[in-house]
Amino acid sequence: MSTTNVVGRLAELAQFGKYEGGINRGLATPQERQARELFVKWASAAGYQLTQDPIGNLFARRNGTTPSVAPILVGSHLDTVPTGGAYDGAYGVVAALCALEQLDREGTQTRHPIEAVAWVGEEGSRFSIGCLGSAVFAKLTSLDDALALRDEAGISLGDALVSRDGGLLDLPQRGEQRVAAYLELHVEQGPVLEAAGVSLGVVSAITGQIRYRAVVEGTSGHAGTVPMDRRSDALSAAAEIILALEAAAKEEGGAVVTVGRLVVEPGGTNVIPARVSFSIDNRSPDVRKMEAVEAAFHKTAEDASKRRGVRIVLEKLDVHQPTPMNPKLREALHRVAGAMGQRALDVPSGAGHDAMCIAKIAPAAMFFVPSIGGRSHVGQERTSDDDLELGVAALTRAIAEVDAIVDTN
Ligand code: GLV
Ligand code: MN
Ligand code: MN
Repeated sequence: MSTTNVVGRLAELAQFGKYEGGINRGLATPQERQARELFVKWASAAGYQLTQDPIGNLFARRNGTTPSVAPILVGSHLDTVPTGGAYDGAYGVVAALCALEQLDREGTQTRHPIEAVAWVGEEGSRFSIGCLGSAVFAKLTSLDDALALRDEAGISLGDALVSRDGGLLDLPQRGEQRVAAYLELHVEQGPVLEAAGVSLGVVSAITGQIRYRAVVEGTSGHAGTVPMDRRSDALSAAAEIILALEAAAKEEGGAVVTVGRLVVEPGGTNVIPARVSFSIDNRSPDVRKMEAVEAAFHKTAEDASKRRGVRIVLEKLDVHQPTPMNPKLREALHRVAGAMGQRALDVPSGAGHDAMCIAKIAPAAMFFVPSIGGRSHVGQERTSDDDLELGVAALTRAIAEVDAIVDTN
């Protein structure tokens, strides 16, 4: 197998936001901007034409033989969760660029222009909503709504994007909005491929996902003097809801729910909690299960609020329906794997991806490569160098294959 510099480039990117626990590269931070700058440096050196859209998504274009047709987009994201690893998202962006360079080296011409894309804000860690850049690009979220989002410190995305350290880059504005097809290569982030001893997965569908912010307001007081039957403890009410969420997801089977962030105020050992805010991330490939869990936590919140004398506000932030990948493109990815002597496994994705937004406006498909130990969203996230290279080779062939079969408009 010919090798690209995907491994070295991922190591370079991993310097931005690195700390002892992993990588923290939230949207529109100095570290994330440095990652975007490096992508631009690599793409410019390779001679690709760079553009940026108003939310900061970056596009590096390799021309096709028919300039008037819509481009095929290939990419992923450069931001990370607060405890992220070096591969989630970054791999798909670097691999896209490496694939374009590989097409150059081979002298392969495509009919469509091919664009390597770095979507911004896929994780939704800093600004709550996931797949923000691709959602704005696909017009599923308005630019104004996105720019008005605020982080925990109250800074709006609009302000963060004009800041010197984390803001937009100095690049030509993107005009093109059409997309002929979308491909994304990603690490699996789960254990299935490794357990099956298979190096390539073809994503069948991406899970549905609902995100909420919950706020519970009770009454603060002295931890020693207020009898237990006279309390409206916000944290006890939150705990009841959180355990009910867990029970509802287990009862549904095939649904998962996570409370990953919780803030207790005022936060004193000997002070009854007055206010608790927490995140809810509720997912299932089956929309009925996802909605059943959602209904269960609304009901528990209502009951707990009455019984405990607390006020509970559940704010729905984001919804993504389960998203099947395009059947024709999936077949193409299987053909590519077969031509490389690989048996690719059909796998569902429990993680969200930019592909679920772009699938709303164009045929989309994804390849996965294995994650060692199935670990992701942790600093220990790893994929073997061989699998990283194999993924780039598969993506390169997939671009040529999709270029040949996708409708031109
Ligand atoms: C993104 O990685 C997500 O699935 O939340
Ligand atoms: Mn990702
Ligand atoms: Mn992720």
